[in-house]
This record gives sequence, structure tokens and C-alpha cells, in this order.
Amino acid sequence: MRKIRFHRHGGAEVLQLDEVAVPEPAPGTVQVRVEAAGVSLMLLKLLHPDGGAALPGSPGGGFVGRITALGEGVTEYRLGERVGGIAADAYADCLTAHPAAISAVPEEVDAADALGIVHGGLVALAALKVGGFDSGDQVLITNAAGGVGHLMVQLARALGASRVVAAVGDPAAKGEFLRGCGADEVIAYAAGTAPVDLVLEAAGGTVLPWALGTLRPMGRLVTMAGYGGTLDAGAVLGSMATVTGLSMGQLARHRPALVAEVRAELWRLLAEGRLKPASVEYPLERAAEAAALLAGRANLGKVVLRVG
Ligand SMILES: NC(=O)c1ccc[n+]([C@@H]2O[C@H](COP(=O)([O-])OP(=O)(O)OC[C@H]3O[C@@H](n4cnc5c(N)ncnc54)[C@H](OP(=O)(O)O)[C@@H]3O)[C@@H](O)[C@H]2O)c1
Repeated sequence: MRKIRFHRHGGAEVLQLDEVAVPEPAPGTVQVRVEAAGVSLMLLKLLHPDGGAALPGSPGGGFVGRITALGEGVTEYRLGERVGGIAADAYADCLTAHPAAISAVPEEVDAADALGIVHGGLVALAALKVGGFDSGDQVLITNAAGGVGHLMVQLARALGASRVVAAVGDPAAKGEFLRGCGADEVIAYAAGTAPVDLVLEAAGGTVLPWALGTLRPMGRLVTMAGYGGTLDAGAVLGSMATVTGLSMGQLARHRPALVAEVRAELWRLLAEGRLKPASVEYPLERAAEAAALLAGRANLGKVVLRVG
């Protein structure tokens, strides 16, 4: 079967298509034929020489596909069932995954849209929930045009935000797309804007302290960027901000009922046409181009590899 791997560290260009054996499901895992896999910022971190990935490396991430074999002891799923979730090696015709890391995907939903829900959408709605979003809130979203961000914009709008501010690196290139998602304002990082009630921060680095500064006193900030960042305790104290971290892994471990509730709400919003995941698609063999688009910060929506 085909699988994207890297045999040296570097940038997007190190990704290549290899022929490898189909992985057999170990006890307690399932084998999945992949329909689509998601390319996200964590891939760039993995490829980087400082990422510490062993060689040859193979990227993991979000996927949607169909179960083709059940490992010993798996009773939660059946052969042929359509599922989506996260796997350690996702850019391939076939992968193996743990039942706890996957969930059922409706038959009628396009694979790229489904990927938007099971990966980006889940983070987006979970961020609104852990941030205590209420209708009428004014919300600022960073990394707003990304796979997670554009769905946070759509969800904030759909759930009754009174003002949605989308912050990105290049508002000229991403403004029209984000206004189409429901943003009232599209601004550059570090630009001025009227204070907001809630910040959903998914860019990290120097954007994080700037984003904190856009909060009104007693506002809330959810920090979820894989690239981290530093907050000054004095700035948090001074505005009496509530800062909440979001890790989907921790949320799944400690609040599984909330994750299930978020997932069910997302499928409902999708079926009602109130959520429209956007994606840029590449065939599996063009994974290096897909990653280069991301590295160039030019994607509008989720970057998706269409596999089968
Ligand atoms: N906490 C969790 O459990 C969790 C789970 C999933 C994702 N996340 C995080 O959510 C964020 C969004 O993920 P995603 O998959 O939606 O992102 P994505 O689509 O992969 O985001 C790509 C965009 O990120 C922005 N960006 C910010 N810093 C960048 C950098 N150093 N290099 C390249 N692009 C950068 C760029 O837009 P601009 O130029 O407009 O900024 C770029 O277009 C990431 O920080 C990711 O780590 C967290």
C-alpha cells in the first residue's frame, strides 16, 4: 500500500510516497481503509530537525475511513463501519487505530467535511464550551482561517455571538473567506480592536499575549496552540482574566461525556447546514505540496489529503 514518509528532517519537501506492507491490527485495535487524512501545523513541527522524530518517520493526524479488520477483543465497532478520529500514521491507504481514538461517521457526509468535523470542528466547539461561550458574547479568534479557526468563526456566529473578530496573518488574503464564514471584522495580529468577552487563541507565540490584551476586564481566554506562548501573570491579574488551556487528549480522558456531546452537536449542526467545513484538497501523493501550502500560511480552511 501507499504511505507518506520522511527519511530526513527538514521542511515540507522531505515528504515522499513509499510502498509499504499493509499494517495488521494488533489486539485491541482496528484496521481502517483511509478515505481522507488531515494535514495540520503539528506536521511541520514533526518534520523539523528539532522535532525529535525517528527516521524513517510517518505523519499522524486526523482521518476518516472504513473499518477493514478488527483486532482481537474489539467489540465496539463492526467490519465495514465508517469511522473518523486520530491515528499515529494517517497518511496512507490503510492504518490502524485504537477504538478510544475513533468514533462513527455518518454515511452520507463527504469525507473532507467529515474530517472537518471529527478533527477541527471538535477542537473548535470544545474551545467555545470550555471558554464558557454564551450567546451575545463578543469573540476574537486567532489563526481564524485555519482548519480549526474557520469553524470557530462559523460556530460562534451560528451559536449567537454578537460580534466575531477574526485575526490572521494576512487579512487582505483571508478577509473575504472569513467574512463568508461569519466574521464581522478581519484584522491582522497586533492590530487594535474594541475589547471582547472571549478569546479563542490558536496561533501561539507572540500572538498569545496580544490576544490577552484584546479582552475586556473579567474576560476569558482559551489557549490551545500547539506552538505555545507566554502569558505575563501581571497582565492576567490586571484584567482579572480567566485563562483556560485546551488539550483534546486531556479532555477526552477526563471529560469523555463532554467530547461525545460536542461531537453529536457538530453532526447536528452540519446536517442543519449551519456548519460548512471548508477545505483545500490534494491527492495523497501530493502531500509535500499540501504541507508547503500550510508552511506558507496560505490555506483557507483545512488542508486535506484525499486518499481513496
Ligand atoms: N490543543 C489541542 O488539543 C489542539 C488540537 C488540534 C489543533 N490544535 C491547534 O490549533 C491550531 C490550529 O490548528 P489547525 O490544524 O486548524 O491549523 P492549520 O489549518 O494547520 O493552520 C494553518 C495556519 O496557521 C497559522 N499559523 C500560525 N502560526 C504558524 C506557523 N508557525 N507556521 C505556519 N502557520 C502558522 C497560519 O495562518 P495565519 O498566517 O493567518 O496565522 C496558517 O495558515 C494549531 O496551533 C494547533 O496546534 C490544538
